[in-house]
Amino acid sequence: MLSLLAVVSLATAALCAPSAAAAPGWEFVLQHELSGIVGLEAIVVSDSLVLFFDRATGDQPLQINGHSAWGALWDLNNSTVRALDVLTDSFCASGALLSNGTMVSMGGTPASDDGNHAAEPGNQAIRIFEPCTSASGVGCTLFENPTTLHLLEERWYPSSVRIFDGSLMIVGGSHVLTPFYNVDPANSFEFFPRKEQTPRPSAFLERALPANLFPRAFALPDGTVFIVANNQSIIYDIEKNTETRLPDIPNGVRVTNPIDGSAILLPLSPPDFTPEVLVCGGSTADTSLPSTSLSSQQPASSQCSRITLTPEGIKAGWQVEHMLEARMMPELVHIPNGQVLITNGAGTGFAALAAVADPVGASNADHPVLTPSLYTPTAPLGKRISNAGMPTTDIPRMYHSSVTLTPQGNFLIAGNNPNMNFTPAGTPGIKFPSELRVETLNPPFMSRTRPSIHTLPEKLGFGQKFTVPITIPSDLEATTIQVSLMDLGFSSHAFHSSARLVFMDASVSKDGKSLTFTTPPNGKVFPPGPAIVFLTIDDVTSPGVRIMMGSGNPPPTLE
Ligand SMILES: *[C@@H]1O[C@H](CO)[C@@H](O)[C@H](O)[C@H]1NC(C)=O
Ligand SMILES: *[C@@H]1O[C@H](CO)[C@@H](O)[C@H](O)[C@H]1NC(C)=O
Ligand SMILES: *[C@@H]1O[C@H](CO)[C@@H](O)[C@H](O)[C@H]1NC(C)=O
Ligand SMILES: *[C@@H]1O[C@H](CO)[C@@H](O)[C@H](O)[C@H]1NC(C)=O
Repeated sequence: MLSLLAVVSLATAALCAPSAAAAPGWEFVLQHELSGIVGLEAIVVSDSLVLFFDRATGDQPLQINGHSAWGALWDLNNSTVRALDVLTDSFCASGALLSNGTMVSMGGTPASDDGNHAAEPGNQAIRIFEPCTSASGVGCTLFENPTTLHLLEERWYPSSVRIFDGSLMIVGGSHVLTPFYNVDPANSFEFFPRKEQTPRPSAFLERALPANLFPRAFALPDGTVFIVANNQSIIYDIEKNTETRLPDIPNGVRVTNPIDGSAILLPLSPPDFTPEVLVCGGSTADTSLPSTSLSSQQPASSQCSRITLTPEGIKAGWQVEHMLEARMMPELVHIPNGQVLITNGAGTGFAALAAVADPVGASNADHPVLTPSLYTPTAPLGKRISNAGMPTTDIPRMYHSSVTLTPQGNFLIAGNNPNMNFTPAGTPGIKFPSELRVETLNPPFMSRTRPSIHTLPEKLGFGQKFTVPITIPSDLEATTIQVSLMDLGFSSHAFHSSARLVFMDASVSKDGKSLTFTTPPNGKVFPPGPAIVFLTIDDVTSPGVRIMMGSGNPPPTLE
């Protein structure tokens, strides 16, 4: 609430939901502080801190130890930024939280280009950020030792996903920095901590060339992993090391970098936790053409494709629906009530830099999409997507931007840098400068009295029932009660690695003062590790409470 007093609202009254009597609707809120580096990767690492990573170009305004920073901690309490020293170039990495709460970032740029001598090669990097107890990040550091702690294979633009035993599966990437297509691919999987001493080759990633960077991967509730890259998709069985081919994304739509659509594992609900995947945006571009035959003005795709990952669902294939507008680089983000936020991206062009025939500055994309939409998974086909009551921003968020749900229940949006270096606003010929402005996107409940969960045990075991004290505002009838267990994911390149929402069976006591809920049965349904619990009553969501789902043991752990 403190930060709300000190910010400038960009939302105009006319754009807010007209029906909600006096209560403001969704709104973009510009934060009073700049991010200091481009927040092109973002992950929530504590109740109050978001870790940003940028590219080591030596020219970001935020300084640390005598050089430009490319890592920073954003304090959600008061919207301030603190530089973080990073050894290797984290452009462009993936990351996730492990079962013991440690954040791991992996991969990045091979050699420090652009004349920044402070950065060591990042493409085999593993960066460790241990759980940090200081609310403002004082004394919190990143640990790196490239000689003793590194990936098996070089990976620029890889993905990662936390799996059932709390370790990470690391997927794909390129050995080298590449201007557009993946021409020197790391078509393999590996794990952190290592499960073996050589990477596992993937025929799927081979088939998905040349647009297979930042594959979108999800841990499924039976312990297998779904992956989509280019227009291909599979289910990977980690224990058997087998790939089962699924139908292609329909209508020639491609969805991974440099043709970024996005994908999300829809909320899982008891008792069956039936997995459904939604893939939106991207483009039908012909990847047999060189990038110089493609255009920044080529329309992106508005297609969303949805599949149920059961034998019958796979037989039925992808169900197609459409966003209200085409989007390259959309972001799909879970909302605690089970809806999906569709935000960011561009109406035309591609991801990556200065590769198409007619880049805008260095941006391969143009026509930023400035109004988010909501996707309601439980609504009938054709009625799921709406932007009614959604605000419009004036800040483009295209290539190298990020968005994450926060523990407070709103969204933090940062970045946008379709430029080679740090290119400030006002640079001649630059339509899309490097963006340091940070916004929150606030759901309507941020400005009213909210339910609250008073306390939760620090650790929640699997398959257990808990009763905890809560408060429900008196103006709510409590006709719908939702308790969501969430991983907020690692936001990088229009994808939220490991993002997850699992609903828990729950009930509220007659007097409205206590909540009883049952945790997921095992780590296949919610991989062990940090999670945020939100209570939503009649669509009004409480602030989240951060807990450890499972034992908190280091990976691999089955409890
Ligand atoms: C910062 O935020 C956390 C979590 O929201 C809260 O517990 C803490 O008291 C806050 N600290 C300050 C100094 O505001
Ligand atoms: C922001 O809050 C932290 C504590 O959470 C404090 O150390 C810092 O000084 C605050 N900064 C400002 C500008 O208020
Ligand atoms: C997927 O892409 C491949 C390679 O471009 C193409 O041959 C295939 O027809 C595409 N599949 C669909 C369903 O469009
Ligand atoms: C968590 O486990 C990882 C991998 O074994 C290890 O590097 C890290 O130090 C552990 N963190 C804590 C807090 O024990």
